[in-house]
Amino acid sequence: MILVTGATGTVGRAVVDRLVAANVPVRALTRNPDCGLPDAVEVVVGDLGNPTDIAVAMRGVDRVFLLSTGPDIPVHDANVLHEATCAAVAHVVKLSSGRTGDDTATDPIPSWHRLGEQALRDSGIGWTVLGPLGFMANTLHWAGSIRHQDSVFATYGHGRIAVIDEHDIAAVAAAVLTSDGHDGRTYRLSGPEALSPSEMTDTLAEVLGRPLRFVEVEPAVARQTILQHGQSEVMADAIMALRATALESFTSTVFPTVQDITGNRPNSFREWAIRHRADFENARVQGGAPRHELAFRLGARWR
Ligand SMILES: NC(=O)c1ccc[n+]([C@@H]2O[C@H](COP(=O)([O-])OP(=O)(O)OC[C@H]3O[C@@H](n4cnc5c(N)ncnc54)[C@H](OP(=O)(O)O)[C@@H]3O)[C@@H](O)[C@H]2O)c1
Repeated sequence: MILVTGATGTVGRAVVDRLVAANVPVRALTRNPDCGLPDAVEVVVGDLGNPTDIAVAMRGVDRVFLLSTGPDIPVHDANVLHEATCAAVAHVVKLSSGRTGDDTATDPIPSWHRLGEQALRDSGIGWTVLGPLGFMANTLHWAGSIRHQDSVFATYGHGRIAVIDEHDIAAVAAAVLTSDGHDGRTYRLSGPEALSPSEMTDTLAEVLGRPLRFVEVEPAVARQTILQHGQSEVMADAIMALRATALESFTSTVFPTVQDITGNRPNSFREWAIRHRADFENARVQGGAPRHELAFRLGARWR
């Protein structure tokens, strides 16, 4: 039995689908009993902040895909590792950040993940760390303004990140979870090329068959918008620090790992965009822009 945490999110759901397709018994931990996971998945309702919930989810499990998010990463990882040790789990695969491999990255998200990675290495359990740089799926945050205004509002328009398809992360995770030879390994993961928000906007426009306008947004305005969406100050600062890394050379590194482990080349952003076309191409809404998009405009610099 493989336990998947974060099973309802972008990467976790893709991991679950891979394992189910391979007829591997899967259990998912989620806070949401109506999470819509496939019938083949055994769902355990629980919170990574609650060790009792995790202990229940861990019964009879031999491998774990550990996905945790935000400032709680160190505590949630420690909780999972404690219960995994008690349950004599053989191997834990942690989804981390590729930037933990960059010693100069001292901003919150890689710092939280470094603590989780260290706890995993110290746990005595077999371990593998997966470190992607940036998700292609982050562009889904642009879906509203693309649908309603044919526009993308983003910071650091020309900073490049070697973004990866969530299906490729899942393919690596499934391979590592279901085969031997990955113990004690850290795999940095990337897509096939480094792309800027501006370049991804151009690709989305080609795939959607209509022009899209790229609007570069000042970081202070973007931070304010994140806060208006209900994120904490800590998360807003973490996200903005992450976005600024698009200007660093490390995040544009292309790694051969997806091909090495899965035998398949990683998907391009164009392939990802074609698969997600429906998310971006709803009918255009006439009239005023949503409030958060107007807020973006205040600090906008037009390309
Ligand atoms: N976005 C990027 O570019 C990027 C790049 C590198 C690494 N990463 C890392 O990838 C991870 C995020 O992956 P993702 O985007 O796939 O996540 P996501 O879509 O945001 O989904 C988060 C998942 O975590 C679960 N979750 C959150 N809090 C929980 C709690 N207290 N107890 C139990 N489950 C909880 C949610 O489950 P329920 O709501 O169903 O409970 C959900 O399945 C983070 O560790 C991030 O640092 C992201």
